[in-house]
Amino acid sequence: MAPPNQHTNGITALHLPTKLVPHTTPLDIAAEFSHHDPAFARLNNGSFGCCPSTIISAQKKWQLKFLENPDYFYFNTLQPSILRSRHLIKSLINADDVEEISIVDNVTTGAAIVLSDTTWSFFTGHFNQGDAVLILQKAYGAIKNSVTAYVSRAGGHVIEVPLPFPLTSNEQIIAEFNKALETGKSNGRQKIKLAVIDHVTSIPSVVIPVKELVKICRDAGVEQIFIDGAHGVGCVDVDVKDIGADFYASSLYKWFFCPPAAAFLHCKKTNNNNNNALKLHHPIVSHEYGNGLAAESGWIGTRDYSAQCVIPEVYEFMMSKFEGGIDGIRRRNHEKVVEMAEMLAEEWGTTLGAPPEMFASMVMVGLPPCLGISSDADAWNLFEHLRNCFGILAPVYYRAAMEEDVVPIMITGYVRISHQVYNTFDDYCRLKDAINKLVNDGFTYEATKHLPIINS
Ligand SMILES: Cc1ncc(COP(=O)(O)O)c(C=O)c1O
Repeated sequence: MAPPNQHTNGITALHLPTKLVPHTTPLDIAAEFSHHDPAFARLNNGSFGCCPSTIISAQKKWQLKFLENPDYFYFNTLQPSILRSRHLIKSLINADDVEEISIVDNVTTGAAIVLSDTTWSFFTGHFNQGDAVLILQKAYGAIKNSVTAYVSRAGGHVIEVPLPFPLTSNEQIIAEFNKALETGKSNGRQKIKLAVIDHVTSIPSVVIPVKELVKICRDAGVEQIFIDGAHGVGCVDVDVKDIGADFYASSLYKWFFCPPAAAFLHCKKTNNNNNNALKLHHPIVSHEYGNGLAAESGWIGTRDYSAQCVIPEVYEFMMSKFEGGIDGIRRRNHEKVVEMAEMLAEEWGTTLGAPPEMFASMVMVGLPPCLGISSDADAWNLFEHLRNCFGILAPVYYRAAMEEDVVPIMITGYVRISHQVYNTFDDYCRLKDAINKLVNDGFTYEATKHLPIINS
């Protein structure tokens, strides 16, 4: 196993200045997150992120600016403020031009923008009926639904790429992609026009070797590549020039401390300097229609834009409070979550779902087989049981037996644990003890149906 500071997948790459600051105390951090419900151990930052109180206060100031004088705010303050946020994102992800950056509510919106253009390509004959879109079988449910809604309904074919799990190396993922691209090629009537690739999958969670996959997709003639980086900025190193995809969308509320709803869509300029963002449209049509995606996205009707204006303050918060700023937080989250995952696996006599270097700030830890998880419903029941009876927030994944299994699998359930700056050792001990208790009590998922709900 590589020592933590040599992990790959961009975990260690630093392209922003590393700023060392006086040590932030655990008490400071606890105060920043004192609004978290103390009844719960939050091991699930990956789902909904978190927002420190400094940022909640800064956001309130933006909301007041609007409410104090809406006319002035809308016509004088809003657009320069959104531009300021776009500049920050541009430097954060090493983009070429601020015009490539559009701020959107979330990654689902970013996907809708790209995929609605795919629909148009079918309508206008740029894509032919039966042309295909490639997506990971384990892509996030909402994004898979989006592909169905925008691609299948327009006559496109969807090719799902299996994600082997547990994993031992990136080569397994690359091999599956190569197989899927070959399948696309061997069917002469079908061209793969778009590949939708997660940067970090949700569940099971692993870092996907996006740079390598972009290259093999390009070599295979795939026209467009969209990276779903919902767990991108703040979780892995994001260098859009290095990755080389056409589109990259990332949340900023998950691993970047923004309040919801803040995310962005990066649209790479093409070789002849055409801006993809000029031909795409926001699904909500408003005053800026036709002025380019960045402008369209900056005015989608009257609403609260404070989460998008506060982005520079969030960056400043990270740089001023934490050693190494965003990169330091990311690196320590990775090291800590791996350490905690290994502690849990050792305690339960199980294994991790992949080598440490294939994880970022979330790790899949095998659950004791005696819990008898044998369906998605069992996994959901255990997730709810941990939440309702033990005050633990951590999603559970069911790994079904598959034809390809050379030997029967023993571990059928994995818990996904996250680490963010507010987490303490006790949070993970709570999970460890809860699972140990279930094992000692001879618990199986069936039992959850009859237990009282303590904390809902
Ligand atoms: C991999 C992945 N893609 C997309 C999304 C959707 O993000 P949002 O709800 O912010 O649109 C998520 C949310 O967890 C995700 O994990």
